[in-house]
Amino acid sequence: MIIAPSILAGDFSKFARELKRVEKSGTNWVHLDVMDGHFVPNLTFGPQVVANARSHSSLLFDTHLMCSKPEILLEPFANAGSDLITVHVELEDQVSSLLWKIRSLNKQVGLAVNPPTAIEKVKPFLDKVDLLLIMTVNPGFGGQSFIEECVPKIQQVYHWRKEMGLDFRIEVDGGVNLKTAAECARAGANTFVSGSALFGERSLTRAVKKMHKVVTQVSEGYCK
Ligand code: DX5
Ligand code: ZN
Repeated sequence: MIIAPSILAGDFSKFARELKRVEKSGTNWVHLDVMDGHFVPNLTFGPQVVANARSHSSLLFDTHLMCSKPEILLEPFANAGSDLITVHVELEDQVSSLLWKIRSLNKQVGLAVNPPTAIEKVKPFLDKVDLLLIMTVNPGFGGQSFIEECVPKIQQVYHWRKEMGLDFRIEVDGGVNLKTAAECARAGANTFVSGSALFGERSLTRAVKKMHKVVTQVSEGYCK
């Protein structure tokens, strides 16, 4: 079970310090949301910020590209030090070549699916990914409410993974707090992106540990 705090909920003026805080919380992952103002109506940061951050952190950089033209960004983010790069299945006919490109850059390959998109869209790519990201809010902003209707998608992907004998991670992102994390864990998720629910607590360390404990207990309690 992996908790990936989303830096989007941190203080961007203290990027390196926030990364240290995540590292000290005891997790190995940090989630980096890259928004281009086109695929989603918000803007965050580019490869230069990731490159500068890299020297301050040994965390796994879980890089979520919410961008219309990720093809121009894959190499820059790979060179900047992203460890895992996720693109969206909504990019349709570009998806195959994007996944191939990420693999050829020797990075872990992620594929994300938005709430309105049918989960069947990801099925042809499951044998090509290290991580499948199921969005549980419409991407663009932190602090939104979890969309319950996305939970059956987790169950479906968990089922396909088993059926196909694959071992990619199942990640959820958006409105993930203690309660919804437990719900996602019950459905088969093993990687939890959480922004405001973790950074909103006084102690990030306590919040991360608590979420980790909750999802671990759920997964141990369930014989899937
Ligand atoms: C939303 C981003 C998320 C965001 C989650 O578009 O992809 O990673 O940071 O934030 P919370 O946990 O606050 O919903
Ligand atoms: Zn994200």
